[in-house]
Amino acid sequence: MKLFVDTGNIADIKKLVALGIVDGATTNPSLMAKETRNPRDILKEICDLVQGPVSGEVVATDLDGMLREGRELATISEHIVVKVPFGPAGVQACKTLTSEGTRVNVTLVFSAAQALLAAKVGAYFVSPFVGRLDDIGAEGMELIGDIVQIYENYEFGTQVLVASTRSTLHIVQAAKLGADICTCPPAVIEGLFKHPLTDSGLERFLKDWEKAQQK
Ligand code: E4P
Repeated sequence: MKLFVDTGNIADIKKLVALGIVDGATTNPSLMAKETRNPRDILKEICDLVQGPVSGEVVATDLDGMLREGRELATISEHIVVKVPFGPAGVQACKTLTSEGTRVNVTLVFSAAQALLAAKVGAYFVSPFVGRLDDIGAEGMELIGDIVQIYENYEFGTQVLVASTRSTLHIVQAAKLGADICTCPPAVIEGLFKHPLTDSGLERFLKDWEKAQQK
C-alpha cells in the first residue's frame, strides 16, 4: 500500500520524504489556506520533492471553472493529479480531463455509489473520507471494504485512496482491506513508527551492551 502525505507544509513534507516512505502527496483548499505562499509555487515544490503523484484541488464548483482550473493545475508538473469534488460537475470534469490525458482524483466521496460513478468516468484516484464518516457515527472503514470489492468485481482501474485518516488503526485496516493508498497528516505518519516495546527494547539492549563493556 502506498503512503501519501496530506499537507501543504513543505517543512513537514521534507522531513518525511527524507525517511524514504512517502509515495505521493495530497492537498485541499483548507490545507493550502494554512500556508502563506502562492498555492501554485507550493504545489510545484511538493512535486519536485515527492517525485510522485501530487493532488491539487480545484475550487470552482461549475464544470467550466473546474476544467479551466484543472487544465491550469496540470501545467504545473507531470506529477500533478487534478482533484475535483464529487458531484455532477465533478464527474463530468473527471471524464473530460481524463480524456485529455490528465489524471483526476475524485474527492469528498462518502458512499460506494459515488465511488462507482467516479470509476465509471475513469478517475485515477477516488478519495473516500473515513475520518469524517467516523465523526458522524458511521463506519468509515466499511466503505473502504465496499469500494475495494466493487472495483475488484468489475476490474476498474481507479485506485482507492483512503483519505481523512486519523490514526494508525485506519492505516492498518486500509492495508488489510487492500486499499491502494492511504493519505495521512504528517502526525499520523509519525505515529506509524511508535511502539512502547520498541523503545523499551532498545533501551534494554543498550544498557546490557554498556554493562558488558565494563566487564
Ligand atoms: C484528502 O485528500 C483530504 O485532503 C483529507 O484527507 C481530508 O482530511 P480531514 O477530514 O482530516 O480534513
